[in-house]
This record gives sequence, C-alpha cells and structure tokens, in this order.
Amino acid sequence: MTVEETLVLVKPDGVARNLTGEILARIEAKGYQLVDIKLVEADRELLGRHYAEHEGKPFYEPLVEFMESGPIVAIRVAGNRVIEGFRSLAGTTDPTTAAPGTIRGDLGRDWGLKVQQNLVHGSDSPESAARELALWFD
Ligand code: TYD
Ligand code: MG
Repeated sequence: MTVEETLVLVKPDGVARNLTGEILARIEAKGYQLVDIKLVEADRELLGRHYAEHEGKPFYEPLVEFMESGPIVAIRVAGNRVIEGFRSLAGTTDPTTAAPGTIRGDLGRDWGLKVQQNLVHGSDSPESAARELALWFD
C-alpha cells in the first residue's frame, strides 16, 4: 500500500456548471477519502504560487485570470496511489481528446479558445502534492 494525499481543485467552470457533486461522486466511488474540503476565492498570489511552473508560458495569464473568475472547491483527498489515480480519473489536459470515462472526457467542453477550462486540477507528483496541499490548506 502506498497511501498518499493529493490536492484536487474543482475549477471555476466546474463549480459554475454545478458539477462539484458529480466530481466528488467519482472520487468517492473510486474509494478515495475526502479528508478536507472548502470553497475558495483564490487571489493572484495563491494562484501565482500554485502555477509557478507555468509562469512565462503563453497560457499562463489567461489561466490565472480564469482561475480568479469564480469560486474553486479545494479538496484534500487520500487513498492508495491517489496522486496517479486521480490524474487517471481526470483524464488528459485537453477535454476534446481526453478519454471517455474520465471527468474531462465525459464532462469537459471543447477548448475552443478557452484552453484553460478543463474542470479539475490534480497534483502530478508526491512533491507537487505536498507543496500544493501546504498552499491551499495550511
Ligand atoms: P498542465 O499542468 O500542463 O496540465 P494539467 O492540468 O493536466 O496538469 O497545465 C495547467 C493548466 O493550464 C491546464 O489544466 C490547462 C492550462 N493549459 C492551457 O490553457 N494551455 C495549454 O497549452 C496547457 C498545456 C495547459
Ligand atoms: Mg499540472
């Protein structure tokens, strides 16, 4: 067993589209535990630290603006190999090509010009999970 914790965010598009319950249901049905959960209006400082790895990329500014545009649900999720497991539940970054059966593949809308809207965030490694959980919860 490799019990881990990860940070899941239901992004502003997911909250606005009333998909938080559907996303939580998929996490719970998979057998993961919800350890902590809250609604957050994230400011630029938090988002800048959260997305530090993407600073300077062409999608960075629109991404931060989108993440500032409405409330986010932040969730601390625990489970065996949950970091990798939630990324698998979420599907790949682009909702258009994310596999059916995944959150982004089933529920995400075509990018169009709004590439950054893909419903959820999940930490991508144990190091990212520790860093991001400290930012959003500590
Ligand atoms: P990234 O960490 O690469 O994707 P993921 O969320 O799957 O870990 O990128 C962070 C977010 O930035 C991504 O969810 C959506 C947005 N993004 C874009 O808008 N355009 C892009 O080309 C990429 C790679 C990401
Ligand atoms: Mg990422």
